[in-house]
Order: sequence, then structure tokens, then C-alpha cells
Amino acid sequence: MENTATIEILDVTVIEPRLKHPTIFDRFDNLQGGEGFIIHNDHDPKPVYYQLLGERGNIFKWEYLEQGPEVWEVLITKLNLEAGDTVGDLVAKDFRKAQVFKKYGIDFCCGGKKSIKQVCEEKGLDPNKVEQELNALPDANTTNETDYASWELSFLADYIVNVHHKYVREAIPALYEYTSKIARVHGKNHPELFDIARHFANVASELESHMPKEERVLFPFIKQLDEAKKSNIKLDKPAFGSIQHPINMMEMEHEVAGNDMEAIRELSGNYTLPADACATYTVAFKKLQEFEDDLHRHIHLENNILFPKAVELEKEIVK
Ligand SMILES: [Fe+2]
Ligand SMILES: [Fe+2]
Repeated sequence: MENTATIEILDVTVIEPRLKHPTIFDRFDNLQGGEGFIIHNDHDPKPVYYQLLGERGNIFKWEYLEQGPEVWEVLITKLNLEAGDTVGDLVAKDFRKAQVFKKYGIDFCCGGKKSIKQVCEEKGLDPNKVEQELNALPDANTTNETDYASWELSFLADYIVNVHHKYVREAIPALYEYTSKIARVHGKNHPELFDIARHFANVASELESHMPKEERVLFPFIKQLDEAKKSNIKLDKPAFGSIQHPINMMEMEHEVAGNDMEAIRELSGNYTLPADACATYTVAFKKLQEFEDDLHRHIHLENNILFPKAVELEKEIVK
């Protein structure tokens, strides 16, 4: 974080209630990439975070400078997206890079719109070392990693539903049962298991309402765009105005689900089993880890490949 002494502070407490959010949005819209401002408030402004994420997309950094109980201050910085390839772009071009990012705890799906330099700065990592490891991967053409970026969008959308949505739906009931069972049986000695079960229940219900929106609204429209391109026709504007709106909403929901899984990872100490772990405990952690891996790949395919390509396609096809 740069020196915040020179950054403008917006005191939200003195703004008339109905003007609070528009004023913050207006200030945000006038920022250049890399610039920021501080909001000063008398309660946690988290709703603004979700509203900004929903309406502007994942293009800002949200850092608490003060977190109550009386004063909340948040530094909002607009990301400089022109500054080189983002972590998400790099993984979209070559999924094997995901393993390097994973090793360093770098989020390439939900938080993928940042450059390597930015994420390393945030995590206190040496960017040269990370770059070196990324470059040390063998030539992409000689491995079997699927080249999702070359797929037709309709095919990619179907693939996501048939592989990842199917997996999520199949994995949820068992995981729901395991996480609640281990909390019940081992919660006394390992109280974090209650929080893990709660975070998992959140993720499960979030995804259960999230996936049908993609399947019923967003993906069919993407397939329509793809069809229109093949038949060389133009489409009218969709009911939701621009595809960017549902995409922003989906990305916001990805972020929420990703945060819950990250909390589970932290609470479990990177899925480290205690000495007294029983078989269910072991299976629960293994399955949670598998679920997180699948979710990362799933969200990566949407945020970094399907959605940006659909935005470009819409510009071409919609009148
Ligand atoms: Fe999805
Ligand atoms: Fe999604």
C-alpha cells in the first residue's frame, strides 16, 4: 500500500443517506487505474463492496485501514488492468500455471484480475521467484493440458455444466453430511469444525442458487451469440441490457463462494488432519480439498475464458 496521507478521504457519515452510494460510485468512476480514495464511515461499509463488485466488476482493491468499533476506513483502489497480463489471463493461456499460483496461495480465479506484481506485493512474495517458476514449466505444447481457450463458446458452456455443475451437485449432499457429522462428533476438541460446516453450508446454498442462473439465463444467451455468429446474423439487445450485468453478478457470487472456501482452507490449516482424525474426518478433508480444486477450475473457466470472450462476442453480434 502506498502512503495514504495524500489520498482523499470521503466522509460518508455526513452525506445524506440516499446520496451515499451514488457519491461513492461517482468518486470511483472518476478514478484512473491505480488511483484510490478512502471512505470513512461509522459502520462496516461491506454492502458497498458487494454493490461495487456487482455493478462494476472485479476491478478494484478493497483494504480496511480501520475496522471499528467506532470508525471504519477503507481504501478503495481501481486496478490498473493494462499493466501486463493478469494472473487469470496467464492461467487462461496455460492452465499448468495454476499449480504455481496455488503453491503460493495466489487466487487465479475469483481474484484473477491482478498482475503478478500486484499479487506478490499483496502477499509479500518475490515476483521474480514466481516468474521464474512459471517460466520453468515445460513447453505448453508438449503436455496434455486441455486448451479450453480454443473451444467454441457453446461447447465450453456445455462442458462447464456437464462437468463442473454436475460435480458440484453430486458432491454437495455427501460433503454436507460429512462436515456436519465431524462437527458433531469432534467439535468439542476441534471447535473450528463448526465454522467449517457453516462455511460449507454457505457455499452449498450459494452454488445451488448460482448455477441455475447460469444455466437458464447467461449460458443460453452466450450460446445464442455463438449461433448468431455462425449464421452471420445480428441480435437485438437482451432483456438484461448488456451481458456485462449478469456477468458482474456471477463474478460477485464467485467471489463470495471463493471466500467461503478460503475460510475453510484457513480454518483447517490447509486441510491438515489432527492425530485423532477418524475415517470420516479424513474423507471430509480430502473431499473438501477436491471440491475447492474443482471450484477453482470451474470459476477460472467462467471468469477468465467464457465471460471475457462472451463480452467481446456481444460487441460484434448485438445491434
Ligand atoms: Fe458455473
Ligand atoms: Fe459460475
